[in-house]
Amino acid sequence: MARATTVHVCSDCGHEAPRWHGQCPGCGAWNTLAEQLVQAPGGRGGGAARAAAAAAATPVALADVEADEVARLATGIGELDRVLGGGIVPGSLVLIGGSPGIGKSTLTTMALANLVAAGRRTLYVSAEESAAQIKLRAQRLDAGGPAAGGPDGAAAATGGGALAIPVIAETDLGAVLATLERERPEVCVVDSVQTLHASELTGAPGSVGQVREVAGELMRVAKRHAIAVLLVGHVTKEGALAGPRVLEHLVDCVLQFEGERERTYRTVRALKNRFGSTSEAGVFEMRDAGLVEVLDASARFVGEATRAPGSVVLCAMEGSRPLLVEVQALVSPSELEPPRRVVSGIDRNRLALVLAVLGRHGGVAGLGSADVFVNVVGGVRVDEPGADLAVALAVASAARGTPLASADAPPLACFGELGLTGELRTVAHADRRLAEARKLGLHAIVGPEAGTLRNALRPLQPRVAAQAA
Ligand code: TYD
Ligand code: MG
Repeated sequence: MARATTVHVCSDCGHEAPRWHGQCPGCGAWNTLAEQLVQAPGGRGGGAARAAAAAAATPVALADVEADEVARLATGIGELDRVLGGGIVPGSLVLIGGSPGIGKSTLTTMALANLVAAGRRTLYVSAEESAAQIKLRAQRLDAGGPAAGGPDGAAAATGGGALAIPVIAETDLGAVLATLERERPEVCVVDSVQTLHASELTGAPGSVGQVREVAGELMRVAKRHAIAVLLVGHVTKEGALAGPRVLEHLVDCVLQFEGERERTYRTVRALKNRFGSTSEAGVFEMRDAGLVEVLDASARFVGEATRAPGSVVLCAMEGSRPLLVEVQALVSPSELEPPRRVVSGIDRNRLALVLAVLGRHGGVAGLGSADVFVNVVGGVRVDEPGADLAVALAVASAARGTPLASADAPPLACFGELGLTGELRTVAHADRRLAEARKLGLHAIVGPEAGTLRNALRPLQPRVAAQAA
């Protein structure tokens, strides 16, 4: 078979080179060349020639366009359906990204199992695992069954349908496309986009050119036959792997599966959604028999909060839902220059900002020569400025060795953004955050009304005040 010709195109300047180069010969940028199939002769030509060859399309006023409300395919996993905006839209392309071992295969298998149980035609394409390996997972999930709900009573269980999912273990893109053409499932999982291989391209599976070609071809078949495709993609911690990033503009919906492999809690959030909100997130727990929806996450985290020095409860928002999580800090003298700044669940640069403001406007001295560790308990990530105050309070409390709440009282709750001049700034959904805290019996709440960081740090001074009185 003659190999189709390919070129390597620079993503920055569009320069085409016959071979791959580390540095673009056109613009000098590094690592920007990606392999592409050369279009058929005649595909490229002058604008006039091309216009003559094609039939003109007739523009239609948007008011006259027919757009029926599409019936969505519910995966039966409440948290996932909510993040998707109410279920899978037929014919849509959904990218589910996440680090290896986070549970992407588990989640997609469970979704298909529910769809099978609901009488939908599905297909699971695995380019990573053998059919036998997929079967073992399915057995494990089915064994859990709907009864595995635990205290929540809300298992994202398979309803026993996992073993009924039709699977193929295939790494060749052509074979997968042919199977889709013949089987025409309503929902198909492709696990993963990095391991499928387009034989026309010489690049290794997972290279930018391959990933783009695989996703592009799948999209064409999917749109033609209204097959919804859940595309699994691996991202490394640094987001480095040539992969899902390059697909974000192509797909309809990008879901990010986050959390740490060793931790129990994982969140699914939408980074992009053409058919729903991007501010939704779902919380799951990995159990022995699959992922279970966590509906009462706030209550659990508050119940486990320690009230020790360095601990505070943050009223965070997970999309449109409030979520209370414990933020912990540890401050200890350092021998290192510069001292350690270790974070889990918050942004490291945000910690640097909070430490600087604490030193300058909060009267907390000595942080410059101390190691500071900050951890959001349970593996939850809070990527919002509203977490600043919690970080500040936790660090200040740890630095002074003074708890923010007494052991017999409910933990202190807080939220608010920290300004560079030591002021507290309002954040979105203050009412929902307050309501959630009160619902769980937390009545000591420090929020933006405190005005300044200094005022917010008051709970750390009662003993001094009492001694002075
Ligand atoms: P997996 O879905 O294979 O992760 P990914 O496809 O994202 O790489 O599974 C992740 C981990 O979860 C794996 O180490 C095994 C574990 N696991 C459970 O704890 N319980 C289960 O029911 C299943 C199926 C997996
Ligand atoms: Mg997997």
